Amino acid sequence: MITKRLETGADNYRKSVKTAAEILKAGGTVAIPTETVYGLAASALDENAVKKIFEAKGRPQDNPLIVHIADISELDGVAREIPEAAYTAAERFWPGPLTMILRRGGKIPACVSAGLDTVAVRMPSDSTARDIIRESGLPLAAPSANTSGKPSPTSARYVLDDLDGKIDAVVIGGECSVGVESTVITLCTDPPRILRPGAVTPEQLKTVFPDIKVDKAVLSEPTKGAKVASPGMKYKHYAPKTETYLVEGTTEKFTEFVNSKQNAAAICFSEDSGRIKVKKLCYGTAEDESTLAHEVFSALREADGLGVSEIYVHAPSKTGVGLAVYNRLIRAAAFRVIKL
Ligand code: TXA
Ligand code: MG
Repeated sequence: MITKRLETGADNYRKSVKTAAEILKAGGTVAIPTETVYGLAASALDENAVKKIFEAKGRPQDNPLIVHIADISELDGVAREIPEAAYTAAERFWPGPLTMILRRGGKIPACVSAGLDTVAVRMPSDSTARDIIRESGLPLAAPSANTSGKPSPTSARYVLDDLDGKIDAVVIGGECSVGVESTVITLCTDPPRILRPGAVTPEQLKTVFPDIKVDKAVLSEPTKGAKVASPGMKYKHYAPKTETYLVEGTTEKFTEFVNSKQNAAAICFSEDSGRIKVKKLCYGTAEDESTLAHEVFSALREADGLGVSEIYVHAPSKTGVGLAVYNRLIRAAAFRVIKL
């Protein structure tokens, strides 16, 4: 199949939104920009369309998808038995990078949720994503638009690297502003739990859910065969082909450590940069974790191009959006953490 490129400059924006919506209404697949990462969208009401998402990504059948809506009025039917707190959280954090897990509504076929009785729902803030949802008139099922296991794509170029020829179209927006996927919380447990950290931080969530807990799978390796709350957490994720390690320590210790390695590269902070003598990719400043979130996936994607045998990533703090960055990196490193 030939993957259509839909440009979003001032001249072709409306036409591209219309074309994307038509493909989606006809049961096709379209990669769309969102503020977090690009998503691979299809109609959440169409089992056959949803199947195409799993096929294009090579996604395990037991990993459920997120349903994207553009207006709060669409929540009813997508979910059922919606608690009042969900509306309070929606008011506070939607549109934006928060996904809520609720009871699955009658409209949504079981395959979207990989057979679970729950459904993940999010309202993106990216205006192109919202225009496409509105124009299609559909709730859109959309996982990240990468091949399963690879870092999520933060630009259309990375989507095409993985999925060119496997999907009907890609909407070419800019780089994603956040850079890591949405925060996923479940309201189907008491107390509610954070299953995947993102740009909406635990501190912010506590203003709506005072008793919310961070699920233990966020920072620890799942034990084989154990039941996990969020199926996506158990898979190998985000990993470069090159052996990758996450390294905790000060600039002095980190730079000294990587400089002592043969045939290694560093994914580092701008603060480290001047002292590093091996190949390196800087992914932002330790002073502001949102810069790290913005660059972490492109750094992981570019890392294999460095042609080294080992990659050492300087670990961010686990506060604010740093927790989300740490959560992705610990998976990219297959839970190999070096504490200096
Ligand atoms: O920012 C995002 O969330 C992006 C953009 C495109 O919206 N989407 C995204 O989707 O990251 P995906 O499929 O790559 O990640 C969804 C995560 C997976 O870990 C999945 O297991 C979990 O959410 N999930 C989805 N539905 C669930 C459910 N009903 N119960 C538990 N976990 C669920
Ligand atoms: Mg994903």
